[in-house]
Amino acid sequence: KAAQFAEQWGWHLYLVGGAVRDLLLSETGSLLIKDIDLVVDGFHQAADVGAGVKLATALQEFYPAARLDIHGAFQTAALLWHEDPEFDSLGIDIATARTEFYPYPAANPEVEASSIRQDLYRRDFTINAMALRLTAATTPPLLDFFGGVGDLQTQQIRVLHPNSFIEDPTRIFRGVRFAIRLGFHLETQTTDYIRYAINSGVYDRTAQANPKTPALQTRLKTELKYLLQAPYWRSALELLSDLGALQCIHSTLKLEPELVRQLQLLERCLQRFDVTHSQHQPQLIHWQLRLETIIAAIAPQFRQPVAKNLQLPEDVIERLANLDRSQTQILSSLPTFDRISQVVQLLKQFDLSMLILIAVRCRNRNIRRQIWRYLTVWAHIQPPLTGNDLRRLGYKPGPQYRQILDNLLAATLDGVVIDRDTAEAFIK
Ligand code: CTP
Repeated sequence: KAAQFAEQWGWHLYLVGGAVRDLLLSETGSLLIKDIDLVVDGFHQAADVGAGVKLATALQEFYPAARLDIHGAFQTAALLWHEDPEFDSLGIDIATARTEFYPYPAANPEVEASSIRQDLYRRDFTINAMALRLTAATTPPLLDFFGGVGDLQTQQIRVLHPNSFIEDPTRIFRGVRFAIRLGFHLETQTTDYIRYAINSGVYDRTAQANPKTPALQTRLKTELKYLLQAPYWRSALELLSDLGALQCIHSTLKLEPELVRQLQLLERCLQRFDVTHSQHQPQLIHWQLRLETIIAAIAPQFRQPVAKNLQLPEDVIERLANLDRSQTQILSSLPTFDRISQVVQLLKQFDLSMLILIAVRCRNRNIRRQIWRYLTVWAHIQPPLTGNDLRRLGYKPGPQYRQILDNLLAATLDGVVIDRDTAEAFIK
């Protein structure tokens, strides 16, 4: 339908980006695509800048179930079908062919109408810079100006021009993501361009809050999320570290053996925790905890600014800001306790993610075990009597209930109370 509309108005319509790459990679020539990127271009001259928006608006009228979002500044429009839980969501982005010029490096691209070739040239990697013509299909309908098909065959991630990473440092993370996900390698010169961009200080613009480039931090966070939630996150992190790209998070950040140890411990913890406690506990956001562990490896005074910069949620920012204080408190108090109730009394002040972070950072096995025991067992123990039982036993409802139940819980944790009889005897 989109192609029909485009033809009617004298435009060409192209499928571009990841969908073309994935179609060419798929062995059967068919696959389920959830994100479709379309580009509109004029036949003999550049289409007018509003073409993509006009096409998306017409499509939305034709498919009223889709939601239409228009991004005015970039002259792009998105159609989203996702309301029906029976179906997977489907998103279609429609843009007008454009070239992006960057007013200064790492800024948001500005837009002007241009032809499809230039549109493809502004993209990140050759394998993402091919287009499949959907209107008035010529043979062959595939436009591959930069050798994308060849790079798919030789399995390499190759950038289109030397400045690509300077213009958009998040492409370093994208390159790593595609390389690991597809089992490809980064082409040698592309690796040189990445190193050049990093050596020339491109990370300053990503790692430091810059009111001129707020979208850059958002994109960096999105890329980090993609990488850290993927099953291949370890290899991705190693490759980023080899390239020196972790500096984009903070200039001092390195994948030291200690951080690797913590991340391994975190994995074990997350796996065991999900198996044993998935129903009772708030869901742990795995990628975010990995990122928190990574950020926690930076000196304490930089953690909060880095988390803010990446626009992480408030609770994460606060956790990272309080981490050192909480860790010191727990590490110094736990060894002095000889009763479980004391451990519970202390640890219940902290949220689950904080305790997991502290446990993985802690080198003392006994302390780690106590935190783990608290999280999996002690935190869930209840006293054998409830408020109703107290009423039945003749206690008058009131604030003393809380006190009695707290004392009862402590006695249960410490093994003094073991059942209802010992509980009743205890409160008398
Ligand atoms: N793109 C780019 N530079 C970026 C982000 C995106 O050049 N920093 C271009 C690429 O051509 C990419 C297209 O925009 O193919 C769409 O971006 P996106 O949907 O993020 O990536 P996909 O290639 O579709 O990857 P994925 O399969 O992971 O969705």
